[in-house]
Amino acid sequence: MAEAVAPLRIALAGHVDHGKSTLVGRLVYDTGSLPEGKLEAIRASSAKRGMPFEWAFLLDAFQAERDQGITIDTTQVWLKTAKRAYTLVDAPGHKEFLRNMVTGAAAADCALLVVDAKEGVREQSRRHAYLLGLLGLSQILVAVNKMDLVDYDQARFAEVARAIEAYLDSLGVAPRAVVPVSGREGDNVAARSAAMPWYHGPTLVEAIDGFRPPIPPVDQPLRFPVQDVYKFDERRILAGRVESGRLRRGDTLVFSPGGRKARVASIEAWPEDRRPDEAEAGRSIGITLDDPIFVERGQIGHLEGSGPVETNSLRARIVWLGRQPLVRGKRYKLKLATAEHQVEVQTIERVIDTADLASRPADAVSAGEIAEVVLRARATLVVDDAKILPRTGRFVLVDGFDVAGGGTVALDGHPRARREGIRSTNVKRVEGRIGLAERWQANGHKSGILWLTGLSGAGKSTLAVELEQHLFRKGWHVTVLDGDNIRHGLSADLGFAPEDRAENIRRVGEVAALIARSGMIVITAFISPYRADRDRVRRIAPDLFHEIHVAADLATCERRDPKGLYAKARAGQIPEFTGISAPYEAPEAPDLVVDTARNGLDACLGQLSAYVERSLGKVEESS
Ligand code: ADX
Repeated sequence: MAEAVAPLRIALAGHVDHGKSTLVGRLVYDTGSLPEGKLEAIRASSAKRGMPFEWAFLLDAFQAERDQGITIDTTQVWLKTAKRAYTLVDAPGHKEFLRNMVTGAAAADCALLVVDAKEGVREQSRRHAYLLGLLGLSQILVAVNKMDLVDYDQARFAEVARAIEAYLDSLGVAPRAVVPVSGREGDNVAARSAAMPWYHGPTLVEAIDGFRPPIPPVDQPLRFPVQDVYKFDERRILAGRVESGRLRRGDTLVFSPGGRKARVASIEAWPEDRRPDEAEAGRSIGITLDDPIFVERGQIGHLEGSGPVETNSLRARIVWLGRQPLVRGKRYKLKLATAEHQVEVQTIERVIDTADLASRPADAVSAGEIAEVVLRARATLVVDDAKILPRTGRFVLVDGFDVAGGGTVALDGHPRARREGIRSTNVKRVEGRIGLAERWQANGHKSGILWLTGLSGAGKSTLAVELEQHLFRKGWHVTVLDGDNIRHGLSADLGFAPEDRAENIRRVGEVAALIARSGMIVITAFISPYRADRDRVRRIAPDLFHEIHVAADLATCERRDPKGLYAKARAGQIPEFTGISAPYEAPEAPDLVVDTARNGLDACLGQLSAYVERSLGKVEESS
């Protein structure tokens, strides 16, 4: 059976007085999405009540739908264009908006942000835009509404458009279009406006039709959270809902956590006489397995190779609505799919005040605030990144007996979590026949890791390249690993969050140790701002590790700014930039300090090569 294409969900955002309802009324009417006779009925009833007709009244014709759970007051409006069907999701205030968005109860695929042409970008427009960006909604369309009130003035439109574009840009979001419209008059809604001949972009409806639909859940990896296990005679039936993907008879399912495997012997659906061969996302089914493995409620069935992440710690964005604030160190119940676990709030990385959007570190999160937190569980949590698989990437937090918050799993900052499920087993070291001393003898020098650490712009790469050339010309075996290069390949999947940097440094440390053990000198140029990360590298190869602090004060590095990154970071365009918005922990007892702020390149190079000569230049004759 061909599944009906689910309507695209569009979140409505924007200041309450900026004409959202009127615009939506217009959209619904002009696209012919309104049931026959509805408009006339509303006109007649407003005339009877002696009220002038308002497009916004059309919205009342739609029943406010209430989702289950903790959602409240969401209005959903159906819209149909020649291209496809849409659901417009509206929430009255930004707290409700937030709550709906974060918990996913009204999760949208894209958003329409409405800004008043006369009033321009207001605080609430910014807040909503910010939240859209925070929630990872990258498809945003801006309607500059009430153009009739500014006499369809091109300059005014350009001014408002520039302001909102600049703001969205600072959030890393590029709107798909900014459309000048009048909800009241219908200009540029479904039909091109004669009043704005200067505008050549799409109408609102055309722009909406330009949204890309999300990947339908059936085409995503299979997730079958086990709701219950029933015993009938000898048969055990695992009941649950296929949250994404497609489950087929004969499939080998892996159950996480634990990783036990068995094949699907049958799919039991109700009515019982029709046993389907497969079940798609959205269906509640029961299955039997060919092997009586132990499976319990809360586990998630998936196919090998495309499974969720198993982890004990979780970085998440949450919105807190509890009567008591969420506090660090306290335990809460986390419910994700069918699993329930106790989790402890390990860190509150930052709290975003929804009133002024300031973000600050804190030990507690009050009702109505959004926060980024790290949660830790004793048990193994099975999760997906909410941006990819929302159904198994969203959770609620329960405080006592009340649902007190909701959140989304953000795995982008958690490469370790991703790897935790894939532990290498059955591996054994292979011993080579050539010892390190023998290699040193052959090369005529010792090997080692010259670990250069320091701020961006301190001169690490420059010195590394110069030193490499200098040593190479002497006939030494030497190579360089450089941050920017490694981040194009080996660490291309990592960003600059602390966990990502830790993973970056771990990888580089392992590679550097392999190179040094092959007898070569490896010079590394990485900011490596965290002491703990550098100490971990030292532990990989304690005898080979040399910590060299390429020191230059922040002001000097910022003045040099060779890549223009400090300027960008100051402008708020690069988050977590070392020295500006992320820490640099200088080495406490480095093997060498090279001060590039006080000394010129040649002096620094001289200092480095003398150090290398001293510590690696002499190979003792082997006995
Ligand atoms: S590290 O912190 O993980 O050691 P690494 O040395 O690999 O960093 O990469 C640093 C390089 O990435 C910098 O030279 C700079 O060009 C670039 N970069 C981009 N974003 C950032 C950021 N937020 N902080 C620091 N460097 C960044």
